[in-house]
Amino acid sequence: MIVTIDGPSGVGKSTVTKLLAARLGFEHLDTGAMYRAVALAGLRAGADLTDRAAVEAVLGGLEVLLPAGRVLLNGDDVTAAVRAPEVSQGASKVAAVPAVRRFLAAQQRATAAGRDMVCEGRDQGTFVFPCAEHKFYLVADPLVRAERRAAELSAKGHHTTAAAQMREQEERDRRDAERDTAPMHPARDALVIDTSLRALDAVVALLESVVRR
Ligand code: DC
Repeated sequence: MIVTIDGPSGVGKSTVTKLLAARLGFEHLDTGAMYRAVALAGLRAGADLTDRAAVEAVLGGLEVLLPAGRVLLNGDDVTAAVRAPEVSQGASKVAAVPAVRRFLAAQQRATAAGRDMVCEGRDQGTFVFPCAEHKFYLVADPLVRAERRAAELSAKGHHTTAAAQMREQEERDRRDAERDTAPMHPARDALVIDTSLRALDAVVALLESVVRR
């Protein structure tokens, strides 16, 4: 069974995905980490991430693996490196390149084939798994999201403020929602849940009850 959880950053997607997967006894797939790994490969190669041809060239010979919560880029452990703020913006840029989306969507479908998995991202319910059994789309107030992201990043040593995160998230949301290929939006059959005023545990309990019903 495939369960999809989509939505912008800072809505609690990663936490909810991991907790829900654990409660259901499912595996989980962080597709954002895959876009981040492609962006990091591009940055390391000195590519202009807004140049489609340059980004496509980075895809040749690229291997992105996600074993047990880690991110491996051509065998190199980049789990921490992909969380850097410049990689967040870079991921949103490479995500607008159709060849990158085709490359990663194929890998996501192959990874999930025949397994029970909770898949999180921006396009899991709309594009990658349109026939998923359960689809959720999380949203939250922009200030709450920015505060959550600032706290998360600061805890990882990337010092930032909610105001800086507001600017960063506005730019990323616009790029993610306005791209031509698989833009970020709820699937028609997704359950949209606002996490602004809900504890993430309560969100997980709600999703679990829907899946088990
Ligand atoms: O979820 P995240 O912040 O790790 O995602 C990083 C970027 O990757 C995000 O700005 C857009 C892109 N992305 C995407 O386009 N499609 C996905 N399924 C997941 C992420």
